[in-house]
Amino acid sequence: MRRYTSLETVHDRVWERIERAADDSQAPFRILTFGSVGEEHPHLRSVVVRSADRDERRLSFHSDRRSEKVADIQAHDRIAWHGWDPETSEQIRLHGTATVHTDDAVADEMWTREDPSGLALYPKSSAPGTPLEEPDDGLHPSVREQPITREHVAAGREHFAVIRTVIDTVDWLHLHADGHYRAQFRFDAEREPFEGRWVVP
Ligand SMILES: Cc1cc2nc3c(=O)[nH]c(=O)nc-3n(C[C@H](O)[C@H](O)[C@H](O)COP(=O)(O)O)c2cc1C
Repeated sequence: MRRYTSLETVHDRVWERIERAADDSQAPFRILTFGSVGEEHPHLRSVVVRSADRDERRLSFHSDRRSEKVADIQAHDRIAWHGWDPETSEQIRLHGTATVHTDDAVADEMWTREDPSGLALYPKSSAPGTPLEEPDDGLHPSVREQPITREHVAAGREHFAVIRTVIDTVDWLHLHADGHYRAQFRFDAEREPFEGRWVVP
């Protein structure tokens, strides 16, 4: 198993893998755990990484604007990401701040770019988390036809949101037979972006 002993290499690698996740549906970090601050406890859920930009320190996904995570972010903008790659034995954890984009150019751009099949959840008439008398997927009848077209999902635009996060800390842990290594990177606008250090795993 490869050994990483350069902070620069590790930091490059983390961001390369995050950027790949946004472009490749099969990439290991395509689905990450996203954490927000809830009123009673932290809230975690899986989401699909939809765009990433290392230069801007950005990582985004889309969601229903009526969902709990959106309310969480509107109350507390601090967020966390977590991913584990069992193939390479690497854990990544990221912290930062989030903004919710609903009726602006950021949301328009992602709505237009996404394949309609990836937007089929949004025309739902009830908000995620609404209680039901019996199990139901809640999908709108318009998206039950195949293939799903832009017209079928159009009513979902009013529920669609992009959650854009800006990362300020990165924590990387590599489990290795010869000893685990862990590195942390903190963004400091006053100094060089993302100052790294090794820490005890
Ligand atoms: C593999 C997987 C991918 C998911 N991707 C997303 C996503 O990209 N956006 C999203 O809002 N929910 C996604 N979900 C659903 C969330 O995990 C969660 O159940 C839902 O968003 C409600 O979360 P909330 O009540 O905490 O807001 C995904 C779930 C799974 C299992």
